[in-house]
Amino acid sequence: MYTLGEFIIENRDSFSTHSIEALLRLFSSIKLASKAIHKEVNKAGLTKKIIGSSGITNIQGEKQKKLDDFAHRTFIESFKNRNIVCGIASEESKDYIIINNKKNKKEDLLKNQYIVLIDPLDGSSNIDVNVSIGTIFSVYLRKSTHQIDVTDFLQKGNHQILAGYIIYGSSTILVYSTGNGVHGFTLDPSVGTFYLSHYNLSFPKNKREQIYSINEGNYEKFPDGIKKFIKYCQKKKGNYSYTARYIGSLVGDFHRNLIQGGIYIYPKTAYHPKGKLRLLYECNPMAFLAEQAGGIASDGRRRILDIKPKKLHQRTPFVCGPIDIVSKLEEFMKNSV
Ligand code: AHG
Ligand code: MN
Ligand code: MN
Repeated sequence: MYTLGEFIIENRDSFSTHSIEALLRLFSSIKLASKAIHKEVNKAGLTKKIIGSSGITNIQGEKQKKLDDFAHRTFIESFKNRNIVCGIASEESKDYIIINNKKNKKEDLLKNQYIVLIDPLDGSSNIDVNVSIGTIFSVYLRKSTHQIDVTDFLQKGNHQILAGYIIYGSSTILVYSTGNGVHGFTLDPSVGTFYLSHYNLSFPKNKREQIYSINEGNYEKFPDGIKKFIKYCQKKKGNYSYTARYIGSLVGDFHRNLIQGGIYIYPKTAYHPKGKLRLLYECNPMAFLAEQAGGIASDGRRRILDIKPKKLHQRTPFVCGPIDIVSKLEEFMKNSV
């Protein structure tokens, strides 16, 4: 059984442009924070520390949960202490956070050179009801040469060098890609170690029954093309038959669809006319993973990873899944308003 660390060392070539040490240090932060969150999540219900609202409305205009705040602080602290990340942007913070603004000497180029974008706690509405939640992370190389500035964070998704998520579900699983396949590691809580459990994940091929995941409660205000696509799924036309599954945690819905096969859709709605999901913290990392797993991700028309972000908390409609199914949806979107 490979541990995550052993697997990275064994597969050092998959991170060829960067040092293996950098990747190990990044993961050392991610593992520590996710284990701390795993521990708290597993005590939810026993202590008042985790359940309920923090009393704050965050920059997203959403009521922040105590666990949103705990996860945000835990990840920031963990990234701060390893001389590898120079700046972090989080879904829970209005501005980006500078960790280290120093420009490194040439011989130490990779130290403090990484930019992290994070959704510390995804699926907040599920915290209080014992349903799967997650963390989504995305890593880029710093671009600025003097002061860190917003352009370091507003890079296109196709510049990601590492992306992944942790699902706190029936077990805690970390899934990542450095652009060379998608791999999953399950936490053995008795040892406190992540072990390789899902090697080279990809959307299953030749599976007749596929899943479609969408919050149909918003149906009335969906674009016409999305309504037609839903009807197409329900009429069981084409190569597949479809069944509906929707958790309301992107991480949970994505993870299930990746393993069982299916499409995830969050279109624009009346309440979220530009889409609800955040391009930088949610869609780019999931799009990177989807493509690495043999799928695609788009906003219904454009490839997510090609979108040039304009602001930190930018939202976008989001679709991802197997190529042929997403392409079908895009066909319906062509003439849609
Ligand atoms: P977050 O908890 O980080 O704010 O994300 C919630 C997102 C995403 O996880 C999920 O797929 C979606 O919002 C659910 O939204 P609806 O409740 O509107 O379906
Ligand atoms: Mn989220
Ligand atoms: Mn969140």
